[in-house]
Amino acid sequence: MSSELSDIVSKIKGTIALSFSYQAEDIVTLDLLLKTKAQDIEVFALDTLKHFQACKTYHKQVEDFYGINIKTYKPDQNAVDRLEIKLGEYGMRGSLEDRHLCCEIRKVKPLEIALQGRSAWVTGLRAAQSVTRANLQIVECDAKYKLFKIAPIASWSEKEVFDYISTHHLPLNELYSQGFKSIGCEPCTRAVKEGEDVRAGRWWWENPEHKECGLHIK
Ligand code: ADX
Ligand code: SF4
Repeated sequence: MSSELSDIVSKIKGTIALSFSYQAEDIVTLDLLLKTKAQDIEVFALDTLKHFQACKTYHKQVEDFYGINIKTYKPDQNAVDRLEIKLGEYGMRGSLEDRHLCCEIRKVKPLEIALQGRSAWVTGLRAAQSVTRANLQIVECDAKYKLFKIAPIASWSEKEVFDYISTHHLPLNELYSQGFKSIGCEPCTRAVKEGEDVRAGRWWWENPEHKECGLHIK
């Protein structure tokens, strides 16, 4: 994949932004991207203000590991204040509408700012993660953000992700050792049992076809 990714990024003029969400897929994708010859890379995280402490610790660990800065985008504080009055701590679990509102304010709006002026957006998405991602391609044109959206590990299995991490001795978010298989915000993510679907712990009260935060809706 490294040489294929090098070919892809060599054709891109301008900044390539990688969205980093503290998951196994992201550290693999980051490692692959840093091994290309791309010069103009920005790595960013969307800080929803609802992340696990382990993710904050891992943020620093990854920065130190690669000697890079992971830029943080936060949601609008006034909008968050209004949201918290409306929903309280766990109100996003009350309805799909309220959950989408929370994701829109805490993730989607900050993403719009993060991608402004960028030429390409690199993610750790995989097609096998869910029904909503089954048609994922390595390179897509994102009509909303008007840039190339690149998913270098689109066709990888979960096993390939963890094999890569172990072969290359990459740091891993400690939540994986506590039974988490997919990691989002604290109120909306829990550990899963052996054999459960990788995304079973994300928005566990919702049906699989709804389990998207809105970042990747086409
Ligand atoms: S989500 O839609 O369910 O939240 P998921 O957690 O699978 O998405 O992550 C898929 C990709 O979206 C990640 O590889 C990453 O590129 C991006 N992403 C998701 N959440 C964040 C975040 N908080 N900050 C930066 N990127 C994110
Ligand atoms: Fe809000 Fe949960 Fe979406 Fe995080 S995942 S932004 S806490 S609804």
